[in-house]
Amino acid sequence: MVDVILGLQWGDEGKGKIVDFFAKDYKVVARFQGGPNAGHTLYVNDKKLVLHQIPSGIFHENTTNLIGNGVVLDAVTLKKEYDKVAAFGIDGRNHLYVAERTHLILPSHRALDKASELSKGNEKIGSTLKGIGPAYMDKTGRNGLRVGDLLDKNFTTQYIKLRMKHQRLLDSFGFNDDISEWEEEFFEAIEFMRSLKIVNGEYFINEKIREGKKVLAEGAQGSMLDVDFGTFPFVTSSNTISAGVCTGLGIAPQKIKEVIGVSKAYCTRVGSGPFPTELHDETGERLRKVGSEFGATTGRPRRCGWIDLVALNFACMVNGVTQIVMTKADVLDAFEELSVCTSYGIDGKQVKTVPYQMSKMPIDPHYEQFAGWQTDITNVRDNTNLPQPMKNYIEFINGYLGVDVSYISNGPERDQIIKA
Ligand code: GDP
Ligand code: IMO
Ligand code: MG
Repeated sequence: MVDVILGLQWGDEGKGKIVDFFAKDYKVVARFQGGPNAGHTLYVNDKKLVLHQIPSGIFHENTTNLIGNGVVLDAVTLKKEYDKVAAFGIDGRNHLYVAERTHLILPSHRALDKASELSKGNEKIGSTLKGIGPAYMDKTGRNGLRVGDLLDKNFTTQYIKLRMKHQRLLDSFGFNDDISEWEEEFFEAIEFMRSLKIVNGEYFINEKIREGKKVLAEGAQGSMLDVDFGTFPFVTSSNTISAGVCTGLGIAPQKIKEVIGVSKAYCTRVGSGPFPTELHDETGERLRKVGSEFGATTGRPRRCGWIDLVALNFACMVNGVTQIVMTKADVLDAFEELSVCTSYGIDGKQVKTVPYQMSKMPIDPHYEQFAGWQTDITNVRDNTNLPQPMKNYIEFINGYLGVDVSYISNGPERDQIIKA
C-alpha cells in the first residue's frame, strides 16, 4: 500500500522532517511532483540539510528513494545535492532511482521563469525562479525533454531544438541574459545523471507494491499552491494534492491508504497571493522571528499569520486527509493568546468555504480566541505531559476538521515529535 505525506497550507509545513521521521517504516520514499522549488529541511546527526530534489527518505539505509515522473528535475541541483548527501556518508547510487518519464528543467526554463516574472511587474507570482512553470508548460505543451532522453544519442540535437524555441520566446520578452554558464553546468550534470539508476518508474513502484513493500509518497509545496485547487494564479504548476500521487508515480487510487496532512500550528506563505489570516503587525513579526520563518530555497522572509481552518478544511476535503501532523507547535509556546480563523467574511456574509478566486475579493477572517499555554514544550515526549490549553487548542481543531491531529512536532530535531 501507499501512504502519502503532503502539505495542507502554502508549503513549508515541515514535510521534510515528517517524511524523514516516518521513512524508517517504508521501503520506498517517492517524490511525485514539484521540483527544486521545494526546500525540505532535515536534521541528521544534529546537522541541518535542505533537500530540493532528492526524497527525504535518503538517510534511511533500507529505504529506496524514487524521483517520480510527475517531478520536474534540475540536473544541476540534483548533482549538488547528491554530493551534499554523500558528505553524510550516504552513497546515493545505492538508494536513488529516477523515473525515465521525469521531465528535465533546462537552463532556458529558468531564464523563461525570470523573464515571465519580470514581465508581470506587480502581478508577479513570486516564483522561486527555478524554471518550474516553463518546464511544466513544456510537458503539457508536449515539447519537453525527459530523463529517458538522456540515454538517446541525439539528446544534444533535441536539446538545441528546444533551446532555439525558448530563445524565440526569450526574444519576445526582450530578455537577453547570458545563460552559457548555466548551460555548461547543465551538460556536466547531465553526464553525471547518466550514471544514476534510471528506471521505468511505474513498473518499478508497482512491482514494489505487488511484493508488499510499503511506499511513502512525499509531497512538495502545499495544497493551497495546487495548480487546480490553490489560490490561482498564485500557485505552483503541479497538482500538489493526493490525486497527484497517481499521475506522478503511475499508481492506482485504490492503492492509497493513509493521507497524512502536515500543517503548522499557525500559517505561513512565501511569494505573492492571497493569505486571509496574514498578520501585518507585531504578532506576525513575532511568529516570523520565533519560527525562523525564512524560505529554505530562496531565503525570502515568509509571511506569517494565524491558523486558517476554512482553508485547512478545504485541503482535508480535496486530499482525503486521514490524519494530521501539526508542526511547529513549540513556536506558539510563549504566546499569551492564540487566534483560530473559523470563517471568512465576504460581502457581509460569513462563509466556511474557500471562494473561487480569493485574490479578487476582500476576505475578513473571523477568529475564535484561545488561551496560550505559555509553557516550553520542546522537551515533552509524551502527550500526557502536554499543557491543558494546548490540548484544548488541538481538540478544537480536530472537532472543526473532523480529522484528528495524530502527531505534534515540537521542534526541528528528529526526536522532537509526540504521538497525540
Ligand atoms: P517543508 O518544505 O515542508 O519540508 O518545510 P521547510 O523545511 O521549508 O520549513 C520548515 C522549517 O521548520 C524548517 O526550518 C524545519 O527545520 C523547521 N521545523 C520543522 N518542524 C518543526 C517544529 O516542530 N518546530 C520548529 N521550531 N521547527 C520545525
Ligand atoms: P516546499 O516543498 C513554499 C511558491 C513560490 C511562489 C509559488 C510559485 O518547500 O513546501 P514556483 O517556483 O513553484 O513557480 O513558485 O509557489 N512555492 C513554495 N512556497 N514552499 C514551497 O515548497 C514552494 N514551492 C513553490 O514562493 O509563490
Ligand atoms: Mg520548504
